[in-house]
Amino acid sequence: MERMVSIRWEGSTDGFLCLIDQTLLPLEYVELKFGCGDLEKVYEAIQKLRVRGAPAIGIAAAYGVCVGIQDFLDADKERFFSGCSKCISYLRKSRPTAVNLFWALDRMSRKLQEIEKMYTPEQFSARMAAEMLLAEAKEIHQQDRCLCAAIGKHGAALLKDDMGVLTHCNAGALATGGDGTALAVIYTAVAEGKKIHVYADETRPLLQGARLTTWELMQRNIPVTLICDNMAAKVMCEGRVQAVMVGADRITRNGDTANKIGTYGVACLAAMHKIPFYVAAPTSTFDFSLHRGEEIPIEERDRAEIIKGFGMRTAPENVQVYNPAFDVTPAELIHGIITENGIITPVTEENILRVCQQK
Ligand code: MRU
Repeated sequence: MERMVSIRWEGSTDGFLCLIDQTLLPLEYVELKFGCGDLEKVYEAIQKLRVRGAPAIGIAAAYGVCVGIQDFLDADKERFFSGCSKCISYLRKSRPTAVNLFWALDRMSRKLQEIEKMYTPEQFSARMAAEMLLAEAKEIHQQDRCLCAAIGKHGAALLKDDMGVLTHCNAGALATGGDGTALAVIYTAVAEGKKIHVYADETRPLLQGARLTTWELMQRNIPVTLICDNMAAKVMCEGRVQAVMVGADRITRNGDTANKIGTYGVACLAAMHKIPFYVAAPTSTFDFSLHRGEEIPIEERDRAEIIKGFGMRTAPENVQVYNPAFDVTPAELIHGIITENGIITPVTEENILRVCQQK
C-alpha cells in the first residue's frame, strides 16, 4: 500500500491544498481540497482539527495563505499586499498554542515583505508574487520532511531492541509534513532492526491516540497496544514500557513543554516509575520569547468535546466543564528533547540555546 500523505499541494498557484480529514479517521479516509475562495474553510479545518499536530498546522497555514491569495491573482501591488496580509492575520487566529503556526506564518510574512521591496508597482505581477509565496510554503513543507528524518535518526539511538514505548496523542506522519516527531523516532528504530512495542494512550477527549496513532502505526505494521489514559500507571508499574516519547506544541527557553492535555500526568508517572520521558520536536517548536511554561497560551475548547464527544452525550447537559487542550510538562521531568540538531540533555536553558543555535 502507498504511504499516506497528510498534506499536499496540487497544481500551481491556482491549484489546491489537499488534506486528509483527520476527524473522520479511522472510519473514513477522505481527502479534502481547498481552492480559490476557500480561505475560511482552511481556517475551519485547522480550528476543527481536520488538520492537526503542531508542524502540520504550520504547513497547512502556509499553504492556506496560498489559497487566500488566489482571490488576488490579477490584483495590483497594493491590493495584493493588503489581501495577503489580511489572510496571514486571519489564519493566526485559528489556534493559539502550537507555535509552529505563528512560525510558519511569520515566514510567509517575511517572504511577502521581501517581495514588496523587490518590485515597484509598475514591475509588480501578482502571479509572480503568488509563485514566490507558494515556493516558500513548499520549502516549509520540504524542510519539515527533513527535520522529521533527522529527529528520527537522533532519537532512535535512545531506543533499544525489545523496548516498550508509551506515547500520548499523535506526533506521527499525520501531524507533520514527514514521518512525525515522536513516531519518527520509533519508525527509525524499527527500520534499524529493533523490535519496539508501542503503548498508545487513547488521549481524551478527542482520541488522537486511539483514532490516529494506532491507525498510523498499524498501517506500518508496528506492534501497538491501545490503552485508556488512566491505564498508563498500571502499564508502567507492570514494567511494560521502558521509555515515553511524545511531541510538543511549544517549548519555552527553560525547556517547559506544552503538549496535548494529559502529557504532564504521563511525565509525573514516568518520573515515579523511573522511566525516561523524552520530547521529540523540531527547533521551530521553541518559543524563545517565553521564559517559562506558565506564559504559554493554552487553548480551551468547546465543552461539547467532553460531554458530547463524537455525537453521544455522556454527562448531564448543563454540567460545568473545563476543557484545556494542552498542559505544560516542567523541564525537570524531561530527560531529553530530541531535535533535528541532536538531543538536548539535561534540559537546561544553556543546552537548549547551544543545540538550537547549531546550523
Ligand atoms: O490538538 P492537536 O491534536 O493538534 O494536538 C497535537 C499534539 O499535542 C501533538 O503531540 C503535537 O502537536 C506534536 S505533533 C508532531
